[in-house]
Amino acid sequence: MTVTERATPARVPDARSPFMRLADLLGDTPPGMPAINLAVGEPQHPVPPFVAPVLAQHTAAFGRYPGNAGTDGFRQAVAGWLGRRYRLPRPIAPLTEILVLGGSREGLFLAAIAAKRLAGERPGKPAILVPNPFYAPYSAGAVAAECEPVYLPATAQNGFLPDLDALDEPLLARTVAFYLASPANPQGSVASRDYLASAARLAQQHGFMLFADECYSEIYWKEPPAGALEVAGNDFANVAVFNSLSKRSSLPGLRIGFVAGDKRFIKPFLDLRAVSAPQVPVPAQEVAIHAYNDEAHVEENRALYRAKFDLADQIIGNRYGYQRPPGGFFLWLDVSQQGGSEAAALKLWKEAGVRVVPGSYAARPQADGSNPGEGYIRVAMVQDRATTAEALHRMVKVLG
Ligand SMILES: Cc1ncc(COP(=O)(O)O)c(C=O)c1O
Repeated sequence: MTVTERATPARVPDARSPFMRLADLLGDTPPGMPAINLAVGEPQHPVPPFVAPVLAQHTAAFGRYPGNAGTDGFRQAVAGWLGRRYRLPRPIAPLTEILVLGGSREGLFLAAIAAKRLAGERPGKPAILVPNPFYAPYSAGAVAAECEPVYLPATAQNGFLPDLDALDEPLLARTVAFYLASPANPQGSVASRDYLASAARLAQQHGFMLFADECYSEIYWKEPPAGALEVAGNDFANVAVFNSLSKRSSLPGLRIGFVAGDKRFIKPFLDLRAVSAPQVPVPAQEVAIHAYNDEAHVEENRALYRAKFDLADQIIGNRYGYQRPPGGFFLWLDVSQQGGSEAAALKLWKEAGVRVVPGSYAARPQADGSNPGEGYIRVAMVQDRATTAEALHRMVKVLG
């Protein structure tokens, strides 16, 4: 489908978080069996052993306000990690091209406001491109920035990535930012280096920001996914990548992440953040320095996910259109034959005690009224191996 000027649906969709909507859907309905939560993408793997000692060593720093940009040590550790992990065109400059974030969610949200300001006047209403389905803060950020979120279908037909050739010139001319997750939540699709290069080229040609959400970059099956900084040229022009320790190091509660890329964006983003964003406690940044310098715990973490996807291969097999995703930690299952998104999620809760997200809640209706998430459920493989096996067996039994 061509994404045109008229791509926005007329009726106002439910913009609440998928989890708030799920709570409403399930209401007071008791779980049919002891509950297993596979709804929230919150890793339940063990907290790495270095966290407590590093925090203990730096407790005195809780007595100071942290700076806005991040400590030099934190930004140097991130620069080092990016240099080891990706084929960067040149080493990234820690102090001008990297900022600390209080987890990537707040950064992704606020980035829309900074991108709108940076873009200046546009012909028509400023637009922000959002893959559909998507991570909720993208469109929340677009709305907060008084931009139009324009939803780009990312369906099985196009490999679960937006079709870049479908973007027409008038739309690109008013675009101020493009959010792109690779590996994607919920589908687990991974953008190739060529795809990322095309997206970065579009951003550079049309003067908008490509916001590459790479928070699942370390959770992959075979090959480490490419990163957008690899293809953005020597200045990382028009590209900012977002990442965090939430998935990589199973530290969602530490609330620490970073943004890295084009310094023409990073500087005004820092100006905005200095009056709006949460500062990140220095002891947490010290933990992060440790985490970015250690790959052993990340490999262990990845191995745990692989073992759980092995279980899905065995237990789910070829039901519900399941194909093992190249990245991320979600199953994106087609339950259109089992009643669709909401009905299947409700049934799984009522009869199996398994909590999953209706796929329709992770997406918005397109102009033609179709919702690319309808007919799917999202299953987060975040519990331990035994719990995951139990949940998958129950799902197959109940859904058939
Ligand atoms: C696609 C995507 N991006 C970003 C985040 C934000 O994670 P955090 O704020 O913990 O870094 C999440 C969390 O679930 C996510 O799924």
